[in-house]
Order: sequence, then structure tokens, then C-alpha cells
Amino acid sequence: MAVERTLCIMKPDCVRKGLQGAVLSQIQKAGFKVLGFKQIRLTKEQAGAFYAVHKERSFYPSLVEFMTSGPVVPVALEKKNAVADYRTLIGATDPKDAAEGTVRKLYADSKGENIVHGSDSVENGKIEVGFFFAESDLV
Ligand code: RTP
Ligand code: MG
Repeated sequence: MAVERTLCIMKPDCVRKGLQGAVLSQIQKAGFKVLGFKQIRLTKEQAGAFYAVHKERSFYPSLVEFMTSGPVVPVALEKKNAVADYRTLIGATDPKDAAEGTVRKLYADSKGENIVHGSDSVENGKIEVGFFFAESDLV
């Protein structure tokens, strides 16, 4: 298995609920190396660009609204098989469908407000880490 990078974003609901530490702890216990970590407030332009793949979907405006509603914490992660393993750790998009013990099952209120983002492919893992972090900031 190859070493991969994947991007976690602790979404505004995660920060509002004070779950940054609990979620990061769960990620670290699962063996992920934290390469980069910061708290920022996304502009509408940044959130829109990050989720541009969903531009035509009905939920896009509310997604952009939600992602700009408070601070978020992007976290650059590295591990063997990171992309798939991180998706397993966070669980399905809708917490109702998420497996027991996953981050979204434990903490999320709804499909729209689901605590964390996760990259969906190895290629997007690289692109999304680069969206928030310069290579020189990944240590
Ligand atoms: P993410 O990109 O945030 O890691 O989530 P995901 O891959 O599990 O789900 P995706 O289909 O990429 O959707 C991106 C985010 O849009 C919001 N969403 N709301 N109300 C809805 O039907 C709906 N569908 C998607 C969620 O915040 C989802 O995580
Ligand atoms: Mg997605």
C-alpha cells in the first residue's frame, strides 16, 4: 500500500461543538500523521471553489453558507492507504447511515452538518491538501 495524503476539514459544527481535540485524537489513534494544521475562516469564494464539483447540486448554496458560518480547521494527513482509511474512520456522509464508532456517527447532527470533510480519491487528496497548505508548511 502506498503512502498517501488526505485532507480533513473540521467543519464549523465541529469547532462550535468544541470537538477539535476529540476528533484529532481519534484520527491520531488511527495512525495518521498530522503534516499541517490550522484554524481559518473561509470566504464564500474559497468555500465555493473548494466544493466546485458540487456547483450544480441543489445543496451547494447551503453547503457554502454552512462552510463559511464559522471557523474551520483544515488538517493535512499522511498514512499508508490514507484516503480510504480516513473515509472509513469518518463514516458515511449522512450520520444516519454511518457505521458505529465513526466520527460522523458519534458527533454529526445531519447530512448537511456532518463534522468533517474527507478527500474522496488519492488524486483529490493531493489537490485538496495543496488548496490549504504550501508544500513548505507540511512537516
Ligand atoms: P465531504 O466532501 O464534505 O467530505 O462529504 P462527502 O464526500 O461524504 O459528501 P459529498 O457528496 O462530497 O457532499 C459534500 C458535502 O455536502 C453536504 N451535503 N449535503 N443536504 C444534502 O443532501 C447534502 N448532501 C451533501 C454535506 O456537508 C457533505 O459532506
Ligand atoms: Mg466529498
